[in-house]
Amino acid sequence: MKKLLVTGSVGQIGSELTMYLRDKYGNDNVVATGHRTKPSEKLKNSGPFEFITVSDFKEVEDIVKKYDIGTIYHLAAVLSAVGESKPQICWDVNMNGLYNVLEVAREHKAAVFVPSSIAAFGPETPKDNTPQDTIQRATSMYGVTKVAGELLADYYYKRFDVDTRGVRYPGIISYETLPGGGTTDYAVEIFYEAIKNKKYTCFLKEDTKLDMMYMSDALKAAVDIMTADTSKLKHRNAFNLCAFNFTPKELAEKIKKFIPEFEISYEVDSVRQDIADSWPNSMDDSAAREEWGWSPEFDLDEMVKDMIEKLTEKLKG
Ligand code: SER
Repeated sequence: MKKLLVTGSVGQIGSELTMYLRDKYGNDNVVATGHRTKPSEKLKNSGPFEFITVSDFKEVEDIVKKYDIGTIYHLAAVLSAVGESKPQICWDVNMNGLYNVLEVAREHKAAVFVPSSIAAFGPETPKDNTPQDTIQRATSMYGVTKVAGELLADYYYKRFDVDTRGVRYPGIISYETLPGGGTTDYAVEIFYEAIKNKKYTCFLKEDTKLDMMYMSDALKAAVDIMTADTSKLKHRNAFNLCAFNFTPKELAEKIKKFIPEFEISYEVDSVRQDIADSWPNSMDDSAAREEWGWSPEFDLDEMVKDMIEKLTEKLKG
């Protein structure tokens, strides 16, 4: 079989997606790549791992040629909060990285998974039940790269017949690898702090509602869209996905059911608050449900229970 490539494999989603794909397709068939961060022993020892810079065309092409890659899961990206402190780097990694991946895919006939985000929406977007096709005037640099990335991926499909597909991820909650530099990161940090210190200071206001999802559903979505029957797809890229949504206050209440002493306080970071305020509360994911059978397995209560169990175990060890 042609091999699969994961970029950003040391990141929050990439690290788990690589292992998920290795379980499914065989360790040697999934090539993991990262930028500078050291990979975990598990990632490094379970299959091929290489360092590349996605904004360097030749480095992307060399890997695709060396391993005869047929599908690229392109996870490498700079997230929203870091994107505001380093907008030029965010543009370089997110846009030039995606452009290089798409160009290499065009030349070497590879399929590409392109993750977009709730960040592709903006303040003028309808906040509740956000439609699949709607106004997208993103105001963060990360969001700008996500809107442009969605359009570029659609363009490569229409113009060059590159098999691009993708989803709009909400905030992803997981216990393996910490997220780095995003606005939804609080929803992961809160679990670590609740278990370790029984208190957490949140950088978003208590009533900031955002769409979120548990990692196992995010992984399933990536593989399901890439293996979907293309004759049923009316959209290709940027399918809205929805699992559950909550505010920091609501999440803290759920955690208190398991850790009654837990206390949340707030010290608002205006940069991340502005970003969060420009994103939807809850996306309408009916296109994903109709076109490729998307359906999440974890609701909010199940996620909280599983996170606390798994993370408590992890932090003991
Ligand atoms: N989780 C991302 C962030 O907060 C959104 O895609 O930046």
